[in-house]
Amino acid sequence: MTPDLLEAGTERRQAYTARTQDEALLTESGGRAAGYGRVAQAGEVDTTHGRILYLEDVHVSFDGFKAINGLSLDIAPGELRCIIGPNGAGKTTMMDIITGKTRPDTGTVFFGSTIDLLRYKEAEIAQLGIGRKFQKPTVFEQLTVFENLELALKTDKGVKASMFFRLDSVQSDRLAEVLHTIHLAGDLGRQAGNLSHGQKQWLEIGMLLMQDPKLLLLDEPVAGMTDEETARTAELFLSLKGKHSLMVVEHDMSFIRAISDIVTVLCDGSVLAQGTLDQVQADERVIEVYLGR
Ligand SMILES: Nc1ncnc2c1ncn2[C@@H]1O[C@H](COP(=O)(O)OP(=O)(O)OP(=O)(O)O)[C@@H](O)[C@H]1O
Ligand SMILES: [Mg+2]
Repeated sequence: MTPDLLEAGTERRQAYTARTQDEALLTESGGRAAGYGRVAQAGEVDTTHGRILYLEDVHVSFDGFKAINGLSLDIAPGELRCIIGPNGAGKTTMMDIITGKTRPDTGTVFFGSTIDLLRYKEAEIAQLGIGRKFQKPTVFEQLTVFENLELALKTDKGVKASMFFRLDSVQSDRLAEVLHTIHLAGDLGRQAGNLSHGQKQWLEIGMLLMQDPKLLLLDEPVAGMTDEETARTAELFLSLKGKHSLMVVEHDMSFIRAISDIVTVLCDGSVLAQGTLDQVQADERVIEVYLGR
């Protein structure tokens, strides 16, 4: 940790403490700071408070436009949380904040109860165990399925280390397991460019799984998939639940119905409603801003 990061963290914490003293009774958690007294263990996410991800009162403006406006949300370990909401609600921006791509103006973002994500850079956050899948598949088209998965293990190594990289037995087992999970065990020698759109999406998810992320953020994963591919993706996500925590943004309601426990509805940069899909679909405010379109 560099001194300036530590200093920035201290300043943020002081600002947070001052603010929460005023707002303590207004927030769901009673203004409780997330485990400042605990010591982070290297490589471990402390989920003893029952939360793997915790956002509180996050704000982001772009040229005066409030894209995220008082967003508070948390996710339990192993949970598969679905996020829905109209275009421009701030769903992708929320993922940008969690992954360090966008810095919030104010607010708290914790991974477990000890890791203050606002103190880390994008690459460091990936190393901490947060994997992100963007909408467009970004596999290496010239390489085979196997090579793509193998490459996913090398990303943080130097060129020389990569040249002499060999899978050890644990990694080989993991690769075989991932191939099976993403339904591509029969295609390991195929060039990724020749896969269907859905298969490319699965391969990219497989590349994320090679790093064994604790939290996976998936932005519109079934957009452009056939109905059959969508159904298989639902099965895939259900099989990942419990082993990983997942946050899934989607507009496809039949897909959400197939995978969801709790659905969070975002609108205008904050949470409009939360509950089962049936509950939020029956909510007048949700119908007005989103489902009744
Ligand atoms: N870097 C940026 N600069 C300026 N405005 C931005 C930036 N990123 C997002 N926005 C704006 O913030 C708002 C929220 O955008 P965001 O992409 O998070 O919405 P979304 O919920 O993901 O929508 P969709 O369902 O269409 O993907 C939009 O009005 C968008 O134009
Ligand atoms: Mg989006």
